[in-house]
Amino acid sequence: MKAIVCTKYGSPDVLQLQEVAKPAPQDEEVLIKIHAASINSRDWRRMRANPFFIRLMAGGLLKPKNPILGADVAGRVEAVGRNVKQFKPGDEVFGYLPSATGRGTFAEYVCANEKAITLKPANLTFEQAAAVPEAAMTALQGLRNKGNLHPGQKVLINGASGGVGTFAVQIAKAFGAEVTAVCSTRNLEMVRSLGADHVIDYKVEDFTQNGQQYDLILAVNGYHPISDYLRALNAEGTYVVAGGSMAQLFQAVSNRKRISKTGSQNTYVVSLEHNKKDLVFIKELLESGKIMPVIDGCYPLSKTPEAFWYFEKVHPKGKVVISVV
Ligand SMILES: NC(=O)c1ccc[n+]([C@@H]2O[C@H](COP(=O)([O-])OP(=O)(O)OC[C@H]3O[C@@H](n4cnc5c(N)ncnc54)[C@H](OP(=O)(O)O)[C@@H]3O)[C@@H](O)[C@H]2O)c1
Repeated sequence: MKAIVCTKYGSPDVLQLQEVAKPAPQDEEVLIKIHAASINSRDWRRMRANPFFIRLMAGGLLKPKNPILGADVAGRVEAVGRNVKQFKPGDEVFGYLPSATGRGTFAEYVCANEKAITLKPANLTFEQAAAVPEAAMTALQGLRNKGNLHPGQKVLINGASGGVGTFAVQIAKAFGAEVTAVCSTRNLEMVRSLGADHVIDYKVEDFTQNGQQYDLILAVNGYHPISDYLRALNAEGTYVVAGGSMAQLFQAVSNRKRISKTGSQNTYVVSLEHNKKDLVFIKELLESGKIMPVIDGCYPLSKTPEAFWYFEKVHPKGKVVISVV
């Protein structure tokens, strides 16, 4: 089969279209003919070995031990292992297969444990479905699991126009929150169209300095010191960070609970858990039309290096998709 192989750590030019062995499913696995995949920061970090310690996590000092990147997938089941109960050949499925397990999705085929996938929402194309799993589940787990999101809360999403942020805005609205979305000028209208009640252009206004306070802040990247976020939180508020520098992530963990005379603020780092229940929950939100992926561009498998260059140089609006079939 054809696959994009990460030949060493480096720029997107290290990604090469190569012929590799087609995988065969184990007893609990299905073989998926991939129709589409999508790029996440995790893939970019593994390609660039950024930060450096990724080399240890990815299992190779000079190149990733599992050289096919990609975790998000949408495709059609081609064959099933003997213990598979939930799927049959021909089923349209989607899911999140963390590539550290060696099951990269920038390829024509991948094997997946049946616990890692679910049926594709019928109202989405393969390209749309592939844009969803990692970013939407990160947003859901950040807002609901860590942030204890509930109706009527004032929620701020900092970094609202990228992969995680576009889902976070829609999920917070679906839960009945009043949402403030922060992004740059060119994306304000787009995040408004996703349902944001208020938008802030970070190039014009610093939301941590304007006196407003929120019940829950999700920072898709750190961007500000934690003290700024805590100032913008109400006395019982919660701050959740998904990405950023090691110092920003460490601060959020180490500041876990801040008790003062006026209340107690909580801070969390969200770390995506591979969880089928959450994938099914996201599927239901998609099918009810409460959330939809935002796709900035779609590239054929052979143009994956170009897609990564675009991902690296431009902040994409939502997701960048790789179309395989
Ligand atoms: N913890 C986990 O398990 C997990 C899982 C998935 C992802 N992540 C992390 O989540 C992060 C976000 O991923 P993503 O794919 O959503 O990223 P992304 O697509 O690059 O989104 C970046 C967002 O941040 C905005 N932004 C850029 N500079 C800013 C600034 N100075 N102030 C405020 N906003 C700014 C961008 O707005 P404009 O484009 O309008 O400038 C855009 O909305 C990454 O760090 C990734 O590693 C973590």
